[in-house]
Amino acid sequence: MTGKMLRVAVFASGTGTNLSAIVDAARSAPGFFAVALVIVSRADAGAGARAAAAGIPCAHISSATHATAAERDDAMLELLAAHRVDLIALAGYLKRISPYFIARFGKPILNIHPALLPEFGGQGMYGCRVFEAVLASGAKASGVTIHLVDEQYDHGPIVFQEAIAVLDGDTVESLAARTQALEHRAYPLVLRRIAEGEIDVGGGGSDRRSG
Ligand code: GRF
Repeated sequence: MTGKMLRVAVFASGTGTNLSAIVDAARSAPGFFAVALVIVSRADAGAGARAAAAGIPCAHISSATHATAAERDDAMLELLAAHRVDLIALAGYLKRISPYFIARFGKPILNIHPALLPEFGGQGMYGCRVFEAVLASGAKASGVTIHLVDEQYDHGPIVFQEAIAVLDGDTVESLAARTQALEHRAYPLVLRRIAEGEIDVGGGGSDRRSG
């Protein structure tokens, strides 16, 4: 994707702090990537309000809006095409991405996970459960992983990992806070490196000059 302006879609189910970090970074260093679309899987996701506040098109797609998985996939694919999206960044998106969707989209899909995969990942490992598991394991390090998405939860080639120390006396809250701060630096950094061609995830992009 060297020299391309990446048009990113962020998929989220929760509060959307990573979405905000990505939007802020895109706007403070324009020309590398922009958030063209947000898709939320819950009508009340904080990410939806953040998208609205930022003036970014946002769609809620879930079983409340489309009865079948195929209808949901097709609705999302249609929106991605309409907004000329080059890459999807999952940021706290709790729905599994189907093989059909991955094949039809045909472009990179990233996910961020608040631990060092392949440990402490998989179905059901999200939110506080991740930090509880890290602390219960006695691990001396945790961190953040950004990886390409395949058909399994928290699986697929890793494109970025950074570790932080687990400190004596760490609680779920303290470890979560330090991990989140790292996430907010890491996701924009990875998107910029992809746009600059320093991280190769395949896929194409639109000409940076044309936005
Ligand atoms: C992040 O910790 C991310 O790693 C995980 O879900 C959380 C989303 O947080 N996949 P937010 O909604 O971006 O605040």
